Amino acid sequence: MKKTRIRKAVFPAAGLGTRFLPATKAIPKEMLPVVDKPIIQYGVEEAVAAGCDQIIIVTGRGKTVIEDHFDISVELEHQLESRGKLDLLALARHISTLGRVAYIRQKEAMGLGHAVLMARDLVGDEPFAVILPDDVIDAKVPCLKQMIEVFDDVQSTILATQVVEGPAISAYGVIEARPIAKNSRVLEVKGLVEKPKLADAPSKNAIIGRYILTPRIFELLEKTPLGAGGELQLTDALRSLVHHEKVYGYSFDGTRYDAGDKLGFLKATVEFALQREDLGNDFRAWLQSLPSLKQ
Ligand code: G1P
Repeated sequence: MKKTRIRKAVFPAAGLGTRFLPATKAIPKEMLPVVDKPIIQYGVEEAVAAGCDQIIIVTGRGKTVIEDHFDISVELEHQLESRGKLDLLALARHISTLGRVAYIRQKEAMGLGHAVLMARDLVGDEPFAVILPDDVIDAKVPCLKQMIEVFDDVQSTILATQVVEGPAISAYGVIEARPIAKNSRVLEVKGLVEKPKLADAPSKNAIIGRYILTPRIFELLEKTPLGAGGELQLTDALRSLVHHEKVYGYSFDGTRYDAGDKLGFLKATVEFALQREDLGNDFRAWLQSLPSLKQ
C-alpha cells in the first residue's frame, strides 16, 4: 500500500455548547479563551504542528466569528502596524497563516458522526484527522503528531485514548482492546461502545477527541443507525470499521483537559497560565497567597 500523508484535519464545531451556558448563549464555545487564545486555536495549531495544511471546520448557526478569527483582520493589522505594536501584529498575523481553512455547515445537530460525514466532499478519498476542539491537550510532542507517527507505520485508523476511572467513563466512547506488544502505547481495538454504563464498559480506555480515519468511515457512517442520545455516533461507525480494517487505540503522552466543561476549562486555564513566561510567576505567587487556599 502506498504510504499517505495526513494533510487534512476536520474540526466539528457546530455543537450548542449547553454545558457552558450562559457564556455560550451568543458566543461559540470554541471561541472561549483559555488564557488569551480561543479553545479552537489550540486544536488548529496542533494540527498544523502535526503537518496538516488543510483545516476543515464544521460549523453551524451563530459560529461565523470562528471564520473571522482565522481570517486576516485588515483594520486591526493596519492599526497595530501604524502604532508600532509589532508583537501584537505578529500574533494577529500568525492566526491567519494557520493552513488553508474551509468551512462547511452542519445544518442540524445530529451528532459527531453526522458532523464528520458533512466533511466528506472536502476530505475526498484520503485518510484524515479529526480533532474535537473541546479536548485541549498539553503535550511535549503534539498529540496528533504522536498519532501520525504511528499512522506512518500502520496506515490504518487510530483513536486517541486515555484511562478514565469510575462512573466518569459513561461520558465517553470506550474501546475493548489489547496492547499490540508489552508496554506498547498502541492497542488493537476489538470493539467499541458509546457512553456505556459503568457496568457495561468493556475497559477503562476512553476515546479522547483525536482520530485518524480512513475514508471508508464515510460509507459506514452513511449506513449507521442513530445511536446514543438519538445521534449519529462516530463510535458506532468505528465498531463496524473493525470488521473491515485494523483499528488502533493510542494511549497518548500528555494531559487532556475537557475545556467544554466548566471545571475542565478552569483547570486548563490555570495550568496554561502557570506555564506562560509572561504570566506564570506572578500568577503562581498570587495563587499561593490566596487566603481561601490556606483554609
Ligand atoms: C465525543 C465522542 C466520544 C468521545 C468524546 C471525547 O463525545 O462521541 O466517543 O469519547 O467525544 O471527548 P461528546 O463529548 O461529544 O459527548
